[in-house]
Amino acid sequence: MIFTHLLVLTLAPVLIAQDLTSDHNTTSLTGTWSSGSKAVLTGSGFANPVKQTFNYPPTTGISFSFTDDFFYEIARYRFNSNGSEPTCITGVMNWVHGTYILQPNGSITMTPTGSDGYQQIQDPCGAISNFIEPYNDTELYQQWRIYTDPQQGFKLHLFQFDGSPLAPQFLVSPTPNMLPTGLIRNTTSNKGKAVLKRELTARSSAAGQHLTVGVMGLVLLSLTSVLVL
Ligand SMILES: *[C@@H]1O[C@H](CO)[C@@H](O)[C@H](O)[C@H]1NC(C)=O
Ligand SMILES: *[C@@H]1O[C@H](CO)[C@@H](O)[C@H](O)[C@H]1NC(C)=O
Ligand SMILES: *[C@@H]1O[C@H](CO)[C@@H](O)[C@H](O)[C@H]1NC(C)=O
Ligand SMILES: *[C@@H]1O[C@H](CO)[C@@H](O)[C@H](O)[C@H]1NC(C)=O
Ligand SMILES: *[C@@H]1O[C@H](CO)[C@@H](O)[C@H](O)[C@H]1NC(C)=O
Repeated sequence: MIFTHLLVLTLAPVLIAQDLTSDHNTTSLTGTWSSGSKAVLTGSGFANPVKQTFNYPPTTGISFSFTDDFFYEIARYRFNSNGSEPTCITGVMNWVHGTYILQPNGSITMTPTGSDGYQQIQDPCGAISNFIEPYNDTELYQQWRIYTDPQQGFKLHLFQFDGSPLAPQFLVSPTPNMLPTGLIRNTTSNKGKAVLKRELTARSSAAGQHLTVGVMGLVLLSLTSVLVL
Protein backbone atom coordinates (compact mmCIF):
# COMPACT_ATOMS: atom_id res chain seq x y z
CA MET A 1 0.00 0.00 0.00
CA ILE A 2 2.83 2.35 0.87
CA PHE A 3 4.45 1.36 -2.37
CA THR A 4 1.24 2.24 -4.26
CA HIS A 5 1.20 5.66 -2.63
CA LEU A 6 4.81 6.27 -3.59
CA LEU A 7 4.03 5.22 -7.11
CA VAL A 8 1.11 7.61 -7.32
CA LEU A 9 3.22 10.41 -5.90
CA THR A 10 5.93 9.74 -8.44
CA LEU A 11 3.44 9.71 -11.29
CA ALA A 12 1.54 12.77 -10.12
CA PRO A 13 3.76 15.45 -11.70
CA VAL A 14 3.68 13.62 -15.02
CA LEU A 15 -0.10 13.36 -14.94
CA ILE A 16 -0.48 17.00 -14.04
CA ALA A 17 1.53 18.02 -17.06
CA GLN A 18 -0.96 16.32 -19.37
CA ASP A 19 -4.06 17.81 -20.89
CA LEU A 20 -7.54 16.38 -20.81
CA THR A 21 -7.23 13.01 -22.53
CA SER A 22 -9.40 9.96 -22.99
CA ASP A 23 -7.87 8.18 -20.00
CA HIS A 24 -9.83 10.56 -17.80
CA ASN A 25 -12.99 8.86 -18.72
CA THR A 26 -12.77 5.08 -18.78
CA THR A 27 -16.23 5.69 -17.41
CA SER A 28 -18.14 8.82 -16.47
CA LEU A 29 -17.49 10.67 -13.18
CA THR A 30 -21.23 10.41 -12.56
CA GLY A 31 -22.11 8.18 -9.62
CA THR A 32 -21.03 7.54 -6.05
CA TRP A 33 -17.39 6.78 -5.24
CA SER A 34 -15.91 5.60 -1.94
CA SER A 35 -12.45 4.80 -0.62
CA GLY A 36 -11.08 1.76 1.20
CA SER A 37 -13.68 -0.38 2.92
CA LYS A 38 -16.41 1.84 1.41
CA ALA A 39 -17.99 2.46 4.80
CA VAL A 40 -18.19 6.21 4.17
CA LEU A 41 -20.88 7.03 1.60
CA THR A 42 -22.57 10.25 0.56
CA GLY A 43 -26.33 10.54 1.03
CA SER A 44 -28.75 10.40 3.92
CA GLY A 45 -26.88 7.64 5.79
CA PHE A 46 -23.96 9.95 6.56
CA ALA A 47 -25.21 13.47 7.21
CA ASN A 48 -28.33 15.37 8.14
CA PRO A 49 -27.54 18.99 7.20
CA VAL A 50 -30.93 20.27 8.41
CA LYS A 51 -30.09 19.18 11.95
CA GLN A 52 -26.33 19.37 11.40
CA THR A 53 -25.77 15.86 12.71
CA PHE A 54 -23.70 12.91 11.48
CA ASN A 55 -23.95 9.13 11.60
CA TYR A 56 -20.50 7.79 12.33
CA PRO A 57 -19.44 5.00 9.95
CA PRO A 58 -17.47 2.07 11.41
CA THR A 59 -14.27 3.07 9.60
CA THR A 60 -12.74 6.24 8.19
CA GLY A 61 -12.76 7.13 4.51
CA ILE A 62 -14.01 9.54 1.89
CA SER A 63 -16.85 9.48 -0.59
CA PHE A 64 -17.60 11.74 -3.56
CA SER A 65 -20.76 11.78 -5.68
CA PHE A 66 -21.25 13.58 -8.98
CA THR A 67 -24.34 14.11 -11.13
CA ASP A 68 -24.04 14.62 -14.87
CA ASP A 69 -25.60 18.07 -14.44
CA PHE A 70 -22.62 19.20 -12.34
CA PHE A 71 -23.72 18.79 -8.74
CA TYR A 72 -21.38 17.13 -6.23
CA GLU A 73 -21.53 15.93 -2.65
CA ILE A 74 -18.63 14.93 -0.38
CA ALA A 75 -18.62 12.87 2.83
CA ARG A 76 -15.36 12.60 4.79
CA TYR A 77 -14.47 10.90 8.05
CA ARG A 78 -10.87 11.05 9.10
CA PHE A 79 -8.47 11.19 12.02
CA ASN A 80 -5.62 13.65 11.97
CA SER A 81 -2.69 12.85 14.19
CA ASN A 82 -0.26 15.41 15.41
CA GLY A 83 3.39 14.32 15.49
CA SER A 84 4.30 16.59 18.39
CA GLU A 85 1.27 15.44 20.42
CA PRO A 86 0.77 11.79 19.48
CA THR A 87 -2.08 11.30 21.94
CA CYS A 88 -4.06 14.19 20.45
CA ILE A 89 -5.92 12.52 17.62
CA THR A 90 -8.43 14.88 16.07
CA GLY A 91 -11.54 13.35 14.52
CA VAL A 92 -13.17 15.20 11.65
CA MET A 93 -16.56 14.48 10.10
CA ASN A 94 -17.13 16.68 7.09
CA TRP A 95 -20.06 17.06 4.70
CA VAL A 96 -20.50 19.50 1.82
CA HIS A 97 -22.35 19.74 -1.49
CA GLY A 98 -22.43 22.20 -4.35
CA THR A 99 -21.65 22.55 -8.03
CA TYR A 100 -18.53 21.52 -9.93
CA ILE A 101 -16.86 22.70 -13.12
CA LEU A 102 -14.60 20.57 -15.33
CA GLN A 103 -11.98 23.19 -16.22
CA PRO A 104 -10.29 23.27 -19.65
CA ASN A 105 -6.89 22.56 -18.03
CA GLY A 106 -8.14 19.23 -16.68
CA SER A 107 -8.83 20.41 -13.12
CA ILE A 108 -12.12 20.29 -11.24
CA THR A 109 -13.36 23.16 -9.10
CA MET A 110 -16.04 22.47 -6.51
CA THR A 111 -18.03 25.35 -5.05
CA PRO A 112 -20.26 24.77 -1.98
CA THR A 113 -23.95 25.70 -2.04
CA GLY A 114 -25.00 28.38 0.47
CA SER A 115 -24.13 27.54 4.03
CA ASP A 116 -25.10 23.87 3.83
CA GLY A 117 -21.59 22.49 4.38
CA TYR A 118 -20.53 21.73 7.97
CA GLN A 119 -18.06 19.67 9.94
CA GLN A 120 -17.68 18.24 13.41
CA ILE A 121 -14.27 18.42 15.04
CA GLN A 122 -13.41 16.27 18.03
CA ASP A 123 -10.16 17.40 19.53
CA PRO A 124 -9.50 15.83 22.96
CA CYS A 125 -6.68 18.33 23.61
CA GLY A 126 -8.43 21.44 22.36
CA ALA A 127 -9.97 24.15 24.53
CA ILE A 128 -13.31 23.02 23.14
CA SER A 129 -13.15 19.27 22.62
CA ASN A 130 -16.16 18.85 20.36
CA PHE A 131 -17.80 21.36 18.08
CA ILE A 132 -19.66 21.89 14.82
CA GLU A 133 -18.58 24.59 12.40
CA PRO A 134 -19.58 25.71 8.90
CA TYR A 135 -17.55 24.34 6.02
CA ASN A 136 -17.56 26.55 2.92
CA ASP A 137 -14.25 25.86 1.18
CA THR A 138 -14.09 25.96 -2.59
CA GLU A 139 -11.92 22.98 -3.54
CA LEU A 140 -9.57 22.64 -6.49
CA TYR A 141 -8.54 19.21 -7.76
CA GLN A 142 -5.67 19.70 -10.21
CA GLN A 143 -6.22 16.40 -12.00
CA TRP A 144 -8.40 13.34 -11.96
CA ARG A 145 -8.11 9.89 -13.53
CA ILE A 146 -10.39 6.89 -13.73
CA TYR A 147 -8.73 3.49 -14.04
CA THR A 148 -10.11 -0.03 -14.07
CA ASP A 149 -9.03 -2.16 -11.14
CA PRO A 150 -9.13 -5.88 -11.99
CA GLN A 151 -10.82 -6.75 -8.68
CA GLN A 152 -12.83 -3.70 -7.71
CA GLY A 153 -13.75 -2.13 -11.04
CA PHE A 154 -13.64 1.59 -11.77
CA LYS A 155 -11.23 3.54 -9.59
CA LEU A 156 -11.14 7.33 -9.30
CA HIS A 157 -7.93 9.19 -8.47
CA LEU A 158 -8.30 12.82 -7.46
CA PHE A 159 -5.22 15.03 -7.06
CA GLN A 160 -5.56 17.92 -4.68
CA PHE A 161 -4.68 21.58 -5.30
CA ASP A 162 -1.05 20.82 -4.39
CA GLY A 163 -0.88 17.69 -6.55
CA SER A 164 -1.08 15.25 -3.63
CA PRO A 165 -3.40 12.30 -4.28
CA LEU A 166 -6.52 11.46 -2.30
CA ALA A 167 -7.12 7.83 -1.40
CA PRO A 168 -8.41 6.10 -4.54
CA GLN A 169 -12.17 5.69 -4.62
CA PHE A 170 -14.16 2.91 -6.21
CA LEU A 171 -17.44 3.28 -8.04
CA VAL A 172 -20.09 2.10 -5.59
CA SER A 173 -23.04 3.05 -7.78
CA PRO A 174 -23.26 4.60 -11.26
CA THR A 175 -26.36 6.44 -10.00
CA PRO A 176 -25.29 9.14 -7.52
CA ASN A 177 -26.59 8.58 -4.00
CA MET A 178 -26.98 12.14 -2.74
CA LEU A 179 -29.11 14.39 -0.58
CA PRO A 180 -31.18 17.02 -2.46
CA THR A 181 -28.73 19.05 -4.56
CA GLY A 182 -30.34 22.45 -3.90
CA LEU A 183 -29.97 24.68 -0.81
CA ILE A 184 -30.91 22.55 2.21
CA ARG A 185 -30.35 24.77 5.21
CA ASN A 186 -31.36 28.42 5.34
CA THR A 187 -29.36 30.07 8.11
CA THR A 188 -30.80 33.52 7.44
CA SER A 189 -34.05 32.39 9.10
CA ASN A 190 -34.17 32.70 12.91
CA LYS A 191 -35.81 29.32 13.23
CA GLY A 192 -32.73 27.70 11.74
CA LYS A 193 -30.44 29.31 14.31
CA ALA A 194 -32.52 28.22 17.30
CA VAL A 195 -32.55 24.64 16.07
CA LEU A 196 -28.83 24.74 15.55
CA LYS A 197 -28.09 25.80 19.15
CA ARG A 198 -30.29 23.09 20.65
CA GLU A 199 -28.70 20.43 18.47
CA LEU A 200 -25.23 21.47 19.46
CA THR A 201 -25.91 21.16 23.20
CA ALA A 202 -27.77 17.90 22.85
CA ARG A 203 -25.05 16.37 20.76
CA SER A 204 -22.04 17.06 22.99
CA SER A 205 -22.54 14.12 25.33
CA ALA A 206 -23.22 11.57 22.62
CA ALA A 207 -20.21 12.68 20.64
CA GLY A 208 -18.08 12.60 23.79
CA GLN A 209 -18.89 8.93 24.16
CA HIS A 210 -17.85 8.29 20.63
CA LEU A 211 -14.55 9.97 21.26
CA THR A 212 -13.76 7.64 24.17
CA VAL A 213 -14.29 4.68 21.87
CA GLY A 214 -12.17 6.43 19.27
CA VAL A 215 -9.19 6.87 21.58
CA MET A 216 -9.45 3.32 22.93
CA GLY A 217 -9.44 1.96 19.41
CA LEU A 218 -6.57 4.23 18.56
CA VAL A 219 -4.10 1.70 17.23
CA LEU A 220 -6.71 0.08 15.05
CA LEU A 221 -8.01 3.39 13.81
CA SER A 222 -4.56 4.71 13.03
CA LEU A 223 -3.87 1.57 11.07
CA THR A 224 -7.13 1.99 9.23
CA SER A 225 -6.30 5.59 8.43
CA VAL A 226 -2.94 4.60 7.02
CA LEU A 227 -4.44 1.86 4.91
CA VAL A 228 -7.56 3.68 3.84
CA LEU A 229 -6.31 7.20 3.48
C1 LIG B 1 -13.85 9.69 -23.45
O1 LIG B 1 -13.56 10.91 -24.10
C2 LIG B 1 -13.14 10.74 -25.45
C3 LIG B 1 -12.70 12.10 -25.95
O2 LIG B 1 -13.67 13.08 -25.68
C4 LIG B 1 -14.29 10.11 -26.25
O3 LIG B 1 -13.87 9.91 -27.59
C5 LIG B 1 -14.66 8.76 -25.60
O4 LIG B 1 -15.80 8.24 -26.26
C6 LIG B 1 -14.98 8.93 -24.13
N1 LIG B 1 -15.15 7.61 -23.51
C7 LIG B 1 -16.12 7.34 -22.60
C8 LIG B 1 -16.14 5.95 -22.07
O5 LIG B 1 -16.93 8.18 -22.22
C1 LIG C 1 0.22 19.99 17.04
O1 LIG C 1 0.22 20.32 18.41
C2 LIG C 1 1.00 21.48 18.73
C3 LIG C 1 1.01 21.63 20.24
O2 LIG C 1 -0.30 21.60 20.78
C4 LIG C 1 0.35 22.67 18.01
O3 LIG C 1 1.10 23.84 18.29
C5 LIG C 1 0.32 22.43 16.52
O4 LIG C 1 -0.35 23.47 15.86
C6 LIG C 1 -0.39 21.12 16.21
N1 LIG C 1 -0.26 20.81 14.79
C7 LIG C 1 -1.30 20.45 14.05
C8 LIG C 1 -1.00 20.13 12.64
O5 LIG C 1 -2.44 20.38 14.49
C1 LIG D 1 -6.39 25.06 -13.77
O1 LIG D 1 -7.52 25.89 -13.76
C2 LIG D 1 -8.02 26.23 -12.47
C3 LIG D 1 -9.30 26.99 -12.64
O2 LIG D 1 -9.16 28.07 -13.51
C4 LIG D 1 -6.93 27.05 -11.74
O3 LIG D 1 -7.39 27.43 -10.45
C5 LIG D 1 -5.70 26.19 -11.62
O4 LIG D 1 -4.66 26.93 -11.00
C6 LIG D 1 -5.24 25.72 -12.99
N1 LIG D 1 -4.16 24.75 -12.81
C7 LIG D 1 -2.98 24.87 -13.44
C8 LIG D 1 -1.98 23.80 -13.18
O5 LIG D 1 -2.75 25.81 -14.18
C1 LIG E 1 -18.80 30.87 0.99
O1 LIG E 1 -17.57 31.27 0.41
C2 LIG E 1 -17.73 32.07 -0.75
C3 LIG E 1 -16.36 32.28 -1.37
O2 LIG E 1 -15.41 32.61 -0.41
C4 LIG E 1 -18.41 33.37 -0.36
O3 LIG E 1 -18.60 34.18 -1.51
C5 LIG E 1 -19.79 33.02 0.23
O4 LIG E 1 -20.43 34.20 0.67
C6 LIG E 1 -19.65 32.06 1.39
N1 LIG E 1 -20.97 31.63 1.79
C7 LIG E 1 -21.38 31.59 3.05
C8 LIG E 1 -22.77 31.15 3.27
O5 LIG E 1 -20.63 31.90 3.97
C1 LIG F 1 -34.46 32.02 4.06
O1 LIG F 1 -35.25 32.46 5.14
C2 LIG F 1 -35.62 33.82 5.04
C3 LIG F 1 -36.34 34.23 6.31
O2 LIG F 1 -37.35 33.29 6.66
C4 LIG F 1 -36.48 34.04 3.77
O3 LIG F 1 -36.81 35.40 3.64
C5 LIG F 1 -35.67 33.57 2.55
O4 LIG F 1 -36.48 33.65 1.40
C6 LIG F 1 -35.20 32.14 2.73
N1 LIG F 1 -34.31 31.77 1.62
C7 LIG F 1 -34.41 30.61 0.97
C8 LIG F 1 -33.43 30.39 -0.13
O5 LIG F 1 -35.22 29.74 1.26
